[in-house]
Amino acid sequence: MFERIFGHFSTDLGIDIGTASTIVYVKEKGIVIQEPSVVAINSRNDQIIAVGEEAKQMIGKTPAHIITSRPLLDGVVSDFEVAEKMLKHFIDKVHRETFSIFPRPRVVINVPLDVTEVERKAVEDAVMNAGAREVFLIEEPMAAAIGARLPIQDSTGNMIIEMGAGTTEIAVIALGGVVAWKSLRLGGDELSKNIINYVRDQFNVLLGEKTAEEAKITIGSAHEKDAMMETKVRGRDLLSGLPKAININSNHLREAMSRNLGIIIDNIKLVIESTPPELVADIYEKGVYLSGGTSQLRGLAKKISQEISIPVTVVDDPLTAVVRGTGIVLENIEASKDLFVVSQGDLI
Ligand SMILES: Nc1ncnc2c1ncn2[C@@H]1O[C@H](COP(=O)(O)OP(=O)(O)OP(=O)(O)O)[C@@H](O)[C@H]1O
Ligand SMILES: [Mg+2]
Repeated sequence: MFERIFGHFSTDLGIDIGTASTIVYVKEKGIVIQEPSVVAINSRNDQIIAVGEEAKQMIGKTPAHIITSRPLLDGVVSDFEVAEKMLKHFIDKVHRETFSIFPRPRVVINVPLDVTEVERKAVEDAVMNAGAREVFLIEEPMAAAIGARLPIQDSTGNMIIEMGAGTTEIAVIALGGVVAWKSLRLGGDELSKNIINYVRDQFNVLLGEKTAEEAKITIGSAHEKDAMMETKVRGRDLLSGLPKAININSNHLREAMSRNLGIIIDNIKLVIESTPPELVADIYEKGVYLSGGTSQLRGLAKKISQEISIPVTVVDDPLTAVVRGTGIVLENIEASKDLFVVSQGDLI
């Protein structure tokens, strides 16, 4: 009874908490927050100084007593207290803006496929301590598939690969459940690091993370047939210690990223091999879907398609597929109960 009254008035939230960014969806309103997962804290009094974009701008520029920190490492909440502070900041912000009478929302939030009991509990507690009334966990590729409107409840197989900053999650979904999967702690951040290492080894120049990521996004390429592009990047000459600008091109970046892209493709093949034949037949027919920020890497869909001989499509608006999926689930939590991750404790 109370649940019904509360449920009617509170602003329930769908949250995609990611290594690079966190996105918040409000029931009946849509996406209201999309910010980097970064928090700046004053270590003298433990107070938050900035969250999101503002905190990201401070990275590498703060005085000793201000610490910028990322609560997620490789897709998993690694700093529980900072994660809680960040979520509380976002949840409070939504409530200030929506003038909700009942401030405690229900929250649907993503976790990786291979989430451990400890990690699952950390996310749950962080969300509850941040002010939620109830929390429901959903596997990230499941949320992405729902956001992309794939027919996940059908008996036919759907394959989705959610490629973020810290993780790549490969999943085959049928009848509302994940049938075959692999979760790799390898994503776009690692690809940017590969570029830093490559440029250091080949040119003796050390690039900053932001520079490497920008080069990856503007001229990066995963397929040999992609048009060659070139850009000027600035870093520190390791011999002289002074700033230096060099020209790098798409071929350099592809070579830098090739080993890790190869690992991702090998794991996609392994998941297909472990999928029941009937579902594989469906996937051949329907194709494979990519979502997440890294799915936008130029030539990646074409490269994967060539390697697995199945059509590959990037879903519309791949960065927000997960949060839109949590939003769809939020609209009908009762009917979605089977989709949520249950704790081992709940099963006993
Ligand atoms: N056009 C692009 N080409 C290549 N990479 C891109 C592009 N746009 C964004 N990215 C990469 O996508 C990643 C961010 O994706 P996303 O926001 O989905 O990650 P996340 O959800 O925060 O991380 P995770 O789910 O792994 O915890 C970053 O590594 C970024 O460099
Ligand atoms: Mg993500």
